[in-house]
Amino acid sequence: MDRIRLIGGNELNGEIPISGAKNAALPLMIASLLSDEPLVLQNVPRLADVKQLERILENHGVDIAVHGRRRGEEGEGQRMTFHAADIVDTTAPYDLVSKMRASFWVIGPLLARCHEARVSLPGGCAIGTRPVDLFLFGLKALGAEIDIDEGYVVARAPKGGLVGAHITFPKVSVGATHTILMAATLARGTTVIDNAAQEPEITNVAECLVAMGAKISGIGTRTLTIEGVERLHGATVDVIPDRIETGTFAMAAAMTGGNVLLKGARPEHLQAALDTLARTGVALSVEPEGLRVRRNGNGIQPVDVETDPFPGFPTDLQAQFMALMTMASGTSHIRETIFENRYMHVAELARFGADISVDGQLATVRGKAQLKGAQVMATDLRASVSLVIAGLAAKGETVVNRIYHLDRGFERLEEKLGRCGAEIERVAG
Ligand code: EPZ
Repeated sequence: MDRIRLIGGNELNGEIPISGAKNAALPLMIASLLSDEPLVLQNVPRLADVKQLERILENHGVDIAVHGRRRGEEGEGQRMTFHAADIVDTTAPYDLVSKMRASFWVIGPLLARCHEARVSLPGGCAIGTRPVDLFLFGLKALGAEIDIDEGYVVARAPKGGLVGAHITFPKVSVGATHTILMAATLARGTTVIDNAAQEPEITNVAECLVAMGAKISGIGTRTLTIEGVERLHGATVDVIPDRIETGTFAMAAAMTGGNVLLKGARPEHLQAALDTLARTGVALSVEPEGLRVRRNGNGIQPVDVETDPFPGFPTDLQAQFMALMTMASGTSHIRETIFENRYMHVAELARFGADISVDGQLATVRGKAQLKGAQVMATDLRASVSLVIAGLAAKGETVVNRIYHLDRGFERLEEKLGRCGAEIERVAG
């Protein structure tokens, strides 16, 4: 299994291009199931999760083409066409769905377009139980009949297809919002989704659906209104830049010191995280080309933070922020409110000498001036990258084991950091 080996202590200086967002690319790819015409996506990141979803879509009969790069586009994301002319199979099998939770979301478009779907339950995952009750609640409201059969959700639309409804989610869910939004585009009549997730990735998908002919209002707000249409057509859509990658590199630069331009970043997509970072003493400036992050010698101030749905501080940056707080000049508190088990990086950060205690949802981080390099093990995507950025700031050698999690969500991580002065390499085997 590949590992990452790095020697900490170097400042980061230079430019880092921000890739397309994984969590936007995945639902955009799934949206291609809604139309028999091609959906072209630009700026798709080269990631293991994208590859995995390609397998799932191909199993449903989607033709996928990756277009070659043109001169000057070498560092850019992929341009891909997804053509679901004919859906040959409405079953998403266990061996494919169990590898990636977001693949469960195909249930929305399959049910809307084919009036039936049989999708394996995604099962548990490292960061929490992550149930699907909100998805089923929404689909039932649209008229679907749902059975659970041998680990599969079997969903059938009423005769004539799904029917619009007023749905108020009891809890904000990104995946359930994506799924019901997609399903409602082809339902008969009007659907209102209250307490919808407002993440920028939802907006990216909603705008894609509008480009495909859907009628949606309230995009970017808590209430989405969808007027069902008979069919959707093809479109060409850009994947937004990855706000979690942006925040991760901003925190890396805060930890190591230096001056980094995050090219193509959209600061408005992670304002809460940037406001928090500014309070730690890091200088942030928005430039025409992106976001500049600087820390010149001054220390890191401790700041308390709580994760929340957008526009709050994202749970996907919690581990990285905790890594930063381990070197703050005092004690900080972090409250994780989205997932019940998203503190697996705590034990690994302790190997660097970090002083963190956890009581339920609350972590108390007692900052220290200097971390020391260590052998650590990654447990999920964002936890893994928190160990990499801790290693960049630690004294001596760090080896991060089991890095396949990183490849699920970070494109060319070693190369991007290496170009800014980090001493980092991938060790095969
Ligand atoms: C999305 O997951 C992201 N994944 C996650 O990123 C992210 O952490 C999460 O949203 C929160 O921002 C993708 O976009 C592919 P949720 P999702 O449904 O949609 C509970 C990463 O590292 N819930 O908004 O699965 C759930 O258990 C990943 O890139 C129910 O109770 O998250 C959680 O506590 C990890 N019932 C809360 O809602 C349901 O039916 C929010 O989860 C669905 C969810």
